[in-house]
Amino acid sequence: MASWSVKDIPFADIDPRTVEKDDILFYVLASASMVESGSDTYTRNLVAYYGDNDDLARWLALQWEPEELQHGSALRAYIEHVWPDFDWDTAYRTFFADYAQRCTLDELEPTQGLELAARCVVEMGTASLYRSLQAYASEPVLRTLMDNIRSDEVRHYKYLYRYFCDYNARERNGRRAVFGALLRRLMEIRNDDADCAIRHVMAVREPQADAARLADVSRRTRLLIRRNLPVDMSVKMLLKPLDLPPRMQAGIEYPLNRLTRYLFLR
Ligand SMILES: [Fe+2]
Ligand SMILES: [Fe+2]
Repeated sequence: MASWSVKDIPFADIDPRTVEKDDILFYVLASASMVESGSDTYTRNLVAYYGDNDDLARWLALQWEPEELQHGSALRAYIEHVWPDFDWDTAYRTFFADYAQRCTLDELEPTQGLELAARCVVEMGTASLYRSLQAYASEPVLRTLMDNIRSDEVRHYKYLYRYFCDYNARERNGRRAVFGALLRRLMEIRNDDADCAIRHVMAVREPQADAARLADVSRRTRLLIRRNLPVDMSVKMLLKPLDLPPRMQAGIEYPLNRLTRYLFLR
């Protein structure tokens, strides 16, 4: 059971006049709603990959996937309250055709344990995104929504991390292999999905927009997220699967802090 429901969000309390002019926030929320709504595409890949682990496969299919999809539908409902003119379905249809092609089983890590380390990076990324948006948001319903989604993402991270520890003990992956998996996924999450979503959202929202407008909106969405990014939290979550001795951790935190900012800005 999910810990909250879209039905509990008091959308009627929103005063649209306080947010509707924030077009960069619109693009951030709309693109997040698209990516979250496409979650079931890669869940199938993952459930198949962990088919020999009943517990994990069931959690992915029955808990994780419905929660990710609920993030998409809650964000969509928020957008519909504040920006009712936006044709979400049309934007999602074209976005999904693009997105589904890039979601194949080939992109999974070579071992189940390393893939779990990589999944921790993804949950770290979404937890950071929603925490950043929560810090940015002034509209109370949006703050509540961001807090709900963020706490789901942190819980997903913790669950996957626990399984990572089990698998990693068995697979005996060295730190170098785990670090490779973390870095590969970190490079991948850059902003490919978000860029793809913004492009399709803009094609519907502002069909007259040119490439310069698209580049400007993409840049400003990154800036909004980066300015409010909980970098220390992000880096701690990123490094946790390496289980580094404290001295090494202190040495690597600063360069990774820079790298995390850079990747979120790209
Ligand atoms: Fe999510
Ligand atoms: Fe998640």
